[in-house]
Amino acid sequence: MKLAIVGYGKMGRMVEQFAPEFGFTIHSKIDAGDPLANAKGADVAIEFSAPEAAISNLEGLAALGVPTITGTTGWLGEMDRVKATYAKHDGALIWSANFSIGVNVLLRAVHEVARLLANEAAYEAWAWEIHHSAKKDAPSGTLLALVREMQAAGYTRNIDQSSNRAGKIAGTHEIGFDSAEDTITLRHTARTREGFARGALRAAQMIQGKKGVHEFKDLLGVTR
Ligand SMILES: NC(=O)c1ccc[n+]([C@@H]2O[C@H](COP(=O)([O-])OP(=O)(O)OC[C@H]3O[C@@H](n4cnc5c(N)ncnc54)[C@H](OP(=O)(O)O)[C@@H]3O)[C@@H](O)[C@H]2O)c1
Repeated sequence: MKLAIVGYGKMGRMVEQFAPEFGFTIHSKIDAGDPLANAKGADVAIEFSAPEAAISNLEGLAALGVPTITGTTGWLGEMDRVKATYAKHDGALIWSANFSIGVNVLLRAVHEVARLLANEAAYEAWAWEIHHSAKKDAPSGTLLALVREMQAAGYTRNIDQSSNRAGKIAGTHEIGFDSAEDTITLRHTARTREGFARGALRAAQMIQGKKGVHEFKDLLGVTR
């Protein structure tokens, strides 16, 4: 199967490195300034670019008829527009703010703890993340997903949120609950970025034959 890589930065290069393990050959590599039309004819595209570039890349890939995996963060506020575009072109898109299996398991664990503490007013909550200093968006898309998961579980009280950017940290996310008596902490620490690239390549295998816009966690079956 032929893979187009859209956004040839840290993630794009890692996807290229692992692509053969998943049965893909590289069809095209498209970085800032290259024509998106170079992706035409690929079986699937994996898009890791920049928040300000994602929407036009996704709309362009839908128009080219190339099923797409995107890990780019910072554009989810435009989800309705992107869904409308994919519906119009009868296209396929799988997205995730975090393609690692561990974070998708954390989402499920956080959902359950938030549900159990939703009516325990003695517990206050926080959500914290730290990433390398080159990361462009803050808070991370993963932190926002964790907060959404807590709210979806019925936790409607304040969730104090913060982000740090320093050094080369691959990504740490923590959700905590604190009362006068005790603290519960749920933390995921990414050791390398390889899990994100491998997860995106798994999604690229899954997208064959699919239509519409899907979140990776729903396809994995590790969340509700
Ligand atoms: N979902 C996940 O699991 C996951 C994991 C890691 C990262 N991410 C996200 O993925 C995105 C990329 O991360 P990264 O670490 O690979 O960043 P990066 O190293 O900065 O790479 C981004 C690449 O995209 C290029 N680019 C910018 N505009 C483009 C356009 N219009 N078309 C094609 N390419 C374009 C950039 O080129 P220039 O440098 O010339 O601008 C750069 O080469 C970020 O949003 C990050 O938060 C998600």
